[in-house]
Amino acid sequence: MTSVRPSVELVSTGRSLPDRVLTNKDLEGMVETSDEWIRERTGIRERRIAAEGTLTADLGATAAEIALSRAEVPPEEVDILLLSTATPDRWLPSTSCDIQSKVGATNAFASDLHAACSGFLYNLSLAEAYLAMGRGEVALVIGAEVMSSIIDWEDRATCVLFGDGAGAAVLRRSDTGRGILANDFGSDGTLADLLCRPAGGVQAPLDKERLIQKDHLVHMSGREIFKAAVRAMADSSARALEKAGLTPDDVDLMVPHQANIRILEATARYAGIPMEKVYVNLDRYGNMSSATIPVALDECLEQGLIKPGSVVLSAAFGAGLTWGATVFQF
Ligand code: ACO
Repeated sequence: MTSVRPSVELVSTGRSLPDRVLTNKDLEGMVETSDEWIRERTGIRERRIAAEGTLTADLGATAAEIALSRAEVPPEEVDILLLSTATPDRWLPSTSCDIQSKVGATNAFASDLHAACSGFLYNLSLAEAYLAMGRGEVALVIGAEVMSSIIDWEDRATCVLFGDGAGAAVLRRSDTGRGILANDFGSDGTLADLLCRPAGGVQAPLDKERLIQKDHLVHMSGREIFKAAVRAMADSSARALEKAGLTPDDVDLMVPHQANIRILEATARYAGIPMEKVYVNLDRYGNMSSATIPVALDECLEQGLIKPGSVVLSAAFGAGLTWGATVFQF
């Protein structure tokens, strides 16, 4: 077993999912696709879509409040509030500041991190570092997305994949022996164009023509992303386990980023983890980018799939490209 001694513990989680369900059948009426194609190629059956006017900060704040109440931590005791999102409510200021205001985390410093679907794991590691350095006692880490706001609903290659939602976790400095055992991260900016929103930033400011071409929405080369994702998540998982002094056999549960069931099956195979140990909820939510892992962790904790002592491996990949893996002992 491991010789690594964690100093930061994941104390509680929460999630917030919009009520509206968009099924594959519904999508059949919107683009040329079929329930069968979507299920076979992705494993997704339905996804949640935020009601008009629902903000990333609304979903994030609700998930955060649930996590705080489960941890019995009053919001004023949060020292560090970190949000990962690819769908900020405004470019300026950060959406984490809106969440801070909504939850009343008046003593926290707040910031956004953008690492696409890997953002939650990146932020967990930042929170871990801040806490281990003594920058505070309690961190609130949130992944929140309104992906429906940046999707081209006429592009069948992308619109069937994504959904909206948020998850949150409370982390504390700890001497319990439980917590984050190891991390591994990487990025490859040479592959940035595989998944991007080409317009709307400094490089290509929004103008009428770019709006008509829908260059402000998600563009994706699905097949290339697929291959890169499997390699990145499997390799990163192996490195994180090695750093923790563990092997795939020590893993009780894998809680990966939820993008596509075929990506999960291939990743699990390369990582040496049987599919029975891989938590899957993408059939119900699709890809919620940085919200997938905290939502999945929350469901696993609620269902008792993670017990005291469980070794949990999370792995993620996303636009950037970015990727990472984290090993916890609960
Ligand atoms: N319904 C029906 N047919 C479709 C659909 C659809 N929704 N979408 C694409 N097709 C068609 C294509 O047009 C193509 O037709 P053609 O052969 O006549 O040209 C055919 O299906 C095959 O298309 P591929 O793209 O080759 O299909 P593939 O098996 O690769 O599956 C998919 C596509 C599901 C997108 C897959 O590549 C994938 O999941 N990639 C990873 C995407 C991903 O996870 N992105 C998120 C990254 S994380 C982040 O940061 C947000």
